[in-house]
Amino acid sequence: MATLIDGKAFSARLRDEIARKVGVLKQEHSLTPGLAVVLVGEDPASQVYVRSKGKQTLEAGMNSYEHKLDADTSQTDLLSLIDQLNNDPDVHGILVQLPLPGHIDEESVINSISVDKDVDGFHLSNVGRLSIGAEGIVPCTPLGSLMMLKNHLGDLSGMKAIVLGRSNIVGKPMASLLLKESCTVTIAHSRTRDLAGECRLADIVVAAVGRPEMVKGDWIKPGATVIDVGINRIEKEDGTTRLVGDVEFDSASEVAGAITPVPGGVGPMTIACLLHNTLQQACRLNGLDVPE
Ligand code: GUN
Repeated sequence: MATLIDGKAFSARLRDEIARKVGVLKQEHSLTPGLAVVLVGEDPASQVYVRSKGKQTLEAGMNSYEHKLDADTSQTDLLSLIDQLNNDPDVHGILVQLPLPGHIDEESVINSISVDKDVDGFHLSNVGRLSIGAEGIVPCTPLGSLMMLKNHLGDLSGMKAIVLGRSNIVGKPMASLLLKESCTVTIAHSRTRDLAGECRLADIVVAAVGRPEMVKGDWIKPGATVIDVGINRIEKEDGTTRLVGDVEFDSASEVAGAITPVPGGVGPMTIACLLHNTLQQACRLNGLDVPE
């Protein structure tokens, strides 16, 4: 049976560590990191995420600034709010919750965020920095996934890794991070031939496709480490719902060396990494090292 990689416990330790460092910044430099979260419209899933981000930001001792705008807010008004936040010295991180309503051009909005406040790591400059292996802000879900991999495996150098999914938020940055760790990286997607066969070659499997339980146990190389990024709500026979990942957990955990559960795996690491990025940028914007 596979070892369970406990993202809930790992993220709780990470958040404690961040809260301690925030305490040092406040005490020694009178600096309180601040995160602004912008939500446009009333998408229920986004509302849940935004509430959770705000709560955990405050629990880490940081300031949380929530901006909730109507679904019909114009792109001009949104850009002017971002300009105001870019120029606010108390704001060190800006996150615009995606997806945005259809009349707003997401790319223009993301690229209007100051590169040094883009705690999502979605700005073209941060994407470019990651792709050349330079210092920059790394997207939260891939960063959290990498932290768990390194914590479990140590040095990843020379390992074969497969990333299932080629999204800009997870698949592509995850592949860049694994390449930076000197893995041999395959990016697989909906057009990949013999997906199961490709998967069976990998020492590390990162599944981020958004298809419930697509990856079966017999796709996994014995002893491989499996990171399941998927969060899919499926309906059970009795009409109630439950959350499942992109990996069929029961069969995969018979074969894998280690695996993240859903829920309680990658999910809680994402917000912890958002706080991590905000702390880093608060220090950077003020010319300080992150406290030990
Ligand atoms: N919507 C779903 N995931 C994310 C994320 O990581 N960042 C933002 N800004 N919006 C999202």
